[in-house]
Amino acid sequence: MKPIVFVMPGQEALGESLLAGGDFETGVLELRHFPDGESYVRVLGDVAGAQIIILCQLHQPDAKILPLLLLVGTLRDLGVESIGLVAPYLAYMRQDKRFNEGEGISAHYFARLLSQQFDWLLTVDPHLHRIHALSEVYSIPALALSAVQPIAQWLRGQVDKPIIIGPDGESEQWAAKVAQAANCPFEVLTKERFGDRDVRVSLPHVEDFLDHTPVLVDDIISTGQTMMQAAAHLRDSGMRAPVCIGVHGIFAAGALTQMQAAGLRVVTTNSIAEASNQIDLAPLILEGLQQLLR
Ligand code: R5P
Repeated sequence: MKPIVFVMPGQEALGESLLAGGDFETGVLELRHFPDGESYVRVLGDVAGAQIIILCQLHQPDAKILPLLLLVGTLRDLGVESIGLVAPYLAYMRQDKRFNEGEGISAHYFARLLSQQFDWLLTVDPHLHRIHALSEVYSIPALALSAVQPIAQWLRGQVDKPIIIGPDGESEQWAAKVAQAANCPFEVLTKERFGDRDVRVSLPHVEDFLDHTPVLVDDIISTGQTMMQAAAHLRDSGMRAPVCIGVHGIFAAGALTQMQAAGLRVVTTNSIAEASNQIDLAPLILEGLQQLLR
């Protein structure tokens, strides 16, 4: 029996790409809301004994998590063999410590919740900062893939003479690896955040790279402030307008439009469906699935 892939709403394009590239059955679902707002989940077709893969975009997770858990419950009742979650963007990784007294460490609680429900997890470039590996918080096999190679491959075809620039210290882990894979230089800026939308970056030493195309690479673009401040700074330093690459474009309200209005070329992977998606993660995820479904 082939593994069955259920694609949750919002992830249709990546779902199609995955189903086209792998040897899977397509899971058929009815998902809707009752008039009172509660979720209705129905699985159509025989799933007993099957290995199940659920592809779910966990961006803005709160409204998605309950239908997801209801689906897991339904599939278990229907006698499936196993259920894995492919969440290319893994939510709730940034509240990874108690910053202020009385706060919850959401990253831990969310990991506990998913670990109780799924047999394994596959994700791409989770925001690992104070948590160094998913195994520190997930008690199920949790595979963290890296979008470095797909990004480098995209760069090779699209950008002339790139210099990779990490907009802050945390982004160095991606910037350095992308630069190595794309065989080009890299720099990292330092960033200070004074509020949700008030971010300032320091002066880089870019004099040697004025004839390059700057490519800002970060794991997440949220308000876009980190990228826009870095881009403004690069322009002030005499560089060309940068290409902004985010692995995950979570784009807080209006952020993508704002960035584009500022003249930035914004490119993201399809971990979250957005107009900026130019880098397909399906081949990477298919490789990861081969390890998990053995
Ligand atoms: C920070 O920890 C992340 O790596 C990103 O730099 C950050 O999430 C970007 O946020 P924003 O787009 O709101 O500046």
